Amino acid sequence: MSNIFELAKKRKTVRKFKNKDVNIEDVIYCIETAKEAPSGMNSQPWKFLIITKHSEKSAIREICERGEKKFHEKIKDSLRDWLKVKNITWKKEFLDSAPVLLLIFSHKKSRYFIQSTWLMIGYLLLALEEKGLSTVTYTPPNLDEIRCFLNVPSEYRLEVILPIGYSDDDKEKETRKSIDEICFIEEWGRKS
Ligand SMILES: Cc1cc2nc3c(=O)[nH]c(=O)nc-3n(C[C@H](O)[C@H](O)[C@H](O)COP(=O)(O)O)c2cc1C
Repeated sequence: MSNIFELAKKRKTVRKFKNKDVNIEDVIYCIETAKEAPSGMNSQPWKFLIITKHSEKSAIREICERGEKKFHEKIKDSLRDWLKVKNITWKKEFLDSAPVLLLIFSHKKSRYFIQSTWLMIGYLLLALEEKGLSTVTYTPPNLDEIRCFLNVPSEYRLEVILPIGYSDDDKEKETRKSIDEICFIEEWGRKS
């Protein structure tokens, strides 16, 4: 069994998935792990929606792609260049090719709802890695349209859609900064 460092080193974003079913029990295990995360005032301001029906995934893809088309028309500068290098376009095939979509919502009336929810998502990503599953932390531009389509109450904010499946993406993991670049000891600028 891998330790946390090995899981974190191995995890990478995946945008292409194999046509192979995912055991929902594995997804539930990941949510069980993630909900152990700390949250401001222990508010646990998160809700999960698991979607596996192809028709529903396709409808979500259609809504997202409509938002993405508008978003891609407007973007410029460094984001535009970065997306081009990564070959990321308005097309989001992973939304209906991944066997499972896990949508994560935060409760807007809780304190620290965004910080807490994203911290929890970090736990979830490592749990997926432990199960040999992959995902992309997809943050669509038109959150409210998706929320309305799914009849989710307006006090919730869609934070992320996680398409979950087995990787069919052999790209390299993106590089990370060295510890010396990001971590100082005792004094700002002093290397550890
Ligand atoms: C808050 C957040 C938002 C992200 N949004 C998107 C997204 O909308 N679409 C996408 O393809 N990747 C998205 N990503 C994935 C990042 O591009 C990816 O994590 C980063 O390039 C590092 O690559 P790695 O995860 O393979 O190490 C997002 C990641 C985070 C943490």
